[in-house]
Amino acid sequence: MKILVTGSNGMLANSVKDRFKMHELICTDVNELDITDENAVINKVNEIKPEYIINCAAYTAVDKAEEDYDLAYKINSIGPKNLAIAAKKSGAILVHISTDYVFDGDLSLDKAYIEEDRTNPVTAYGKTKLSGENEIIKITDRYYIFRTAWLYGKGNNFVKTMLKLGNSKEEINVVSDQYGSPTNADDLADIIYQAIEKKIPFGIYHSTNLGFTTWYEFTKKIFELANISCKVNPVTTDKYIKIMNIVQAKRPHNSKLSKDKILREGIVVPNWKDSLKKYLEIYVNF
Ligand SMILES: NC(=O)c1ccc[n+]([C@@H]2O[C@H](COP(=O)([O-])OP(=O)(O)OC[C@H]3O[C@@H](n4cnc5c(N)ncnc54)[C@H](OP(=O)(O)O)[C@@H]3O)[C@@H](O)[C@H]2O)c1
Repeated sequence: MKILVTGSNGMLANSVKDRFKMHELICTDVNELDITDENAVINKVNEIKPEYIINCAAYTAVDKAEEDYDLAYKINSIGPKNLAIAAKKSGAILVHISTDYVFDGDLSLDKAYIEEDRTNPVTAYGKTKLSGENEIIKITDRYYIFRTAWLYGKGNNFVKTMLKLGNSKEEINVVSDQYGSPTNADDLADIIYQAIEKKIPFGIYHSTNLGFTTWYEFTKKIFELANISCKVNPVTTDKYIKIMNIVQAKRPHNSKLSKDKILREGIVVPNWKDSLKKYLEIYVNF
């Protein structure tokens, strides 16, 4: 299979390159292919003629996007639009990654968002990502959009930050009123791999690890598995913002994404706790 991977230096891209290494991969970073440049995208796809385009390029700085909307929009909406145009012209299938931030996070906590739920992004980042989804859907029928959340993998991420803090502080405060699923980038890459192999129907799929937790419980699990004795104090989001004296984009209270649709397609999705253990064994020495 010939596959074009964009944004190839990113966290998910690293896992995608690893999972698909048996295939013919053409990996492009922003210098080799800027996805906001329509002509460059069309020319590249026309030249390579990939069967799949896996778009790992994105503007992912959630807080910065509030001040930097135009650039975030260009990368998260115009970029996927260009890729969809090029994919449609060449007959390629477009694989795109989206986010729980397309929802407002106000869903009752006894529920998890399904793919058909009403989107209502409340952050600049979420708005640009939803716009990217809509552009793709308008242009081509041959797409997969995998909405993920709380991603960690190679490179800087929440798990590594917590390990550093846990090893240097006696106690830390972690938010305990945001709910979601930590997701190992290797597992998301494997979900994409399985989806392609099984040729599941095109469409949107919620794709995080199984199980739900809070950042607080997630941190406690990281410390337990890494034998770190640092005390973890649960705090509300409001209190955390006050203690840290920060301004940040609204975080969704409920980021739970239902995996029922992807599981119905026979895709195997590991539980977040098992994946975290695997991650700590493989990537982090302690
Ligand atoms: N990380 C999370 O927790 C999370 C949660 C939900 C959804 N997602 C989604 O998952 C996907 C992968 O996220 P990630 O964490 O792997 O992102 P990432 O590490 O920030 O990687 C994004 C990559 O895109 C590149 N890029 C930026 N602008 C580009 C352009 N115009 N053309 C080509 N490449 C460009 C970046 O290059 P530079 O670094 O050189 O700018 C970077 O290598 C994204 O769609 C993101 O929205 C992530």
